[in-house]
Amino acid sequence: MNYSAKRGSFSILSWRKRDGAPNDRTIGSIHDSILVYGKSLAPGSLRTIGEESLNLMPRTEKANQQYQVFDEPDGPDPRGPFRKIDTTANAKGGRDVPSLHFGITNPHTGEVVYPRDGTCWRHSEVEMSRLQEDGRLYWGVKGTGRTPMRKLFLNEAKDGMATPSILPGMPLNQHAARELEVHFGKKSVFETPKPVGLLELLVSIGSSPGDIVVDFFAGSGTTGEAVYRLNVNAGEDRRYILVQLPEPLGQDNGSSRAAVETCQQRGLPLVLSALTQERLRLAGKSLHESSPMFHGDLGFRAFKLDHSNIRAWDPSPEDLEAALFDGVEHLREGRSEQDVLYELLLKLGLDLCAPIEDRTIAGKTVHSIGAGTLFVCLPKKVTADEVEELALGIAGWREELKTAGETTVVFRDSAFADDVAKTNASAILEQHGIENVRSL
Ligand SMILES: C[S@@+](CC[C@H](N)C(=O)[O-])C[C@H]1O[C@@H](n2cnc3c(N)ncnc32)[C@H](O)[C@@H]1O
Repeated sequence: MNYSAKRGSFSILSWRKRDGAPNDRTIGSIHDSILVYGKSLAPGSLRTIGEESLNLMPRTEKANQQYQVFDEPDGPDPRGPFRKIDTTANAKGGRDVPSLHFGITNPHTGEVVYPRDGTCWRHSEVEMSRLQEDGRLYWGVKGTGRTPMRKLFLNEAKDGMATPSILPGMPLNQHAARELEVHFGKKSVFETPKPVGLLELLVSIGSSPGDIVVDFFAGSGTTGEAVYRLNVNAGEDRRYILVQLPEPLGQDNGSSRAAVETCQQRGLPLVLSALTQERLRLAGKSLHESSPMFHGDLGFRAFKLDHSNIRAWDPSPEDLEAALFDGVEHLREGRSEQDVLYELLLKLGLDLCAPIEDRTIAGKTVHSIGAGTLFVCLPKKVTADEVEELALGIAGWREELKTAGETTVVFRDSAFADDVAKTNASAILEQHGIENVRSL
């Protein structure tokens, strides 16, 4: 079912999720509807569902089986398997087109043939001659056919198929439950999982290699496993962002006992998002084992939403002095270097999965992100004596990395003994071409 509205449109796919209808209802639902929404790039485009942004679904074995190598008088066509397409069209009920009634010569018998009664040719005389000249008309094994068929070669067919609105041959809910059981070794760890095969199809038509797939309601993490599988099976490099609330798990809030036990047995926090992560770990591990030749990334980084690590300046007018002293340390108590690091990546618009390397320079941990695009050094103290070794160490590392483009270095402001030490650090880095020196 397609609906087209200005600058956006959608379509509804039907997924058969169970074999039989549940008996506790008069009408038992055995399918789910999947809303496919795309933004049409071309206003007024006749194509619906933002089709220009969707892919064809992968060709199925069943579809390819329609293409065969057929015998012909001069031997099989060297262009390989083909499908036979009717060259005639129904001409009854006023659909007759006089110009589509003409004779063509069977090259094998020399006989001139015409469309059968009640039909006309589907193609013009010019087109039929072109097909004939190019050997694209099939006259049968012995070449004695009286109505030629047009050859559609598999290697010329679209590299995919239109997705039928009733999804064919998709796994059912019970398969989804089974997939989780295989991972966790326990039934019903998650109540409403979707099967990986279904998400694989939706991800493959809705995104392309190199894209980031976002699932705002991740649940058991099926979308993540689907992305892994597509990458492994097709050698692609999609990535995903899964969002899942850390819903508390507990017998008292109706969570499945299996979910609670699984978390307890695996030493996981009793929240649903911990199960999501565990599933992704298990899926990555089993794909690594089953596809040892795949060297792509089957891991993930997990983040939790929280307040900024940088304390907002909120002085109380009654005690400005205390607020000033308090403000010396801008970073919130109890936050790790990692917390600050990832906030920096977010704020600088850097990829949260950018490669991060650590090194100890002048006894301080220095993180290099994106091969020296960003250096972060957040120790609580940097004495005046350590400044030179630290700054030269960072500059040397950057030279080693042959960083392309600009580099930013971020320090903890309160770490420097005084402004002189901080200025020295910036000066040394500037001498080595690093002008972006910031402090938090
Ligand atoms: C139907 S389940 C998703 C099942 C998932 N497709 C799978 O295959 O496992 C919906 C999930 O969305 C989560 N959820 C609901 N509201 C959310 C929100 N605002 N942000 C993140 N997750 C949310 C729920 O905790 C639940 O796990």
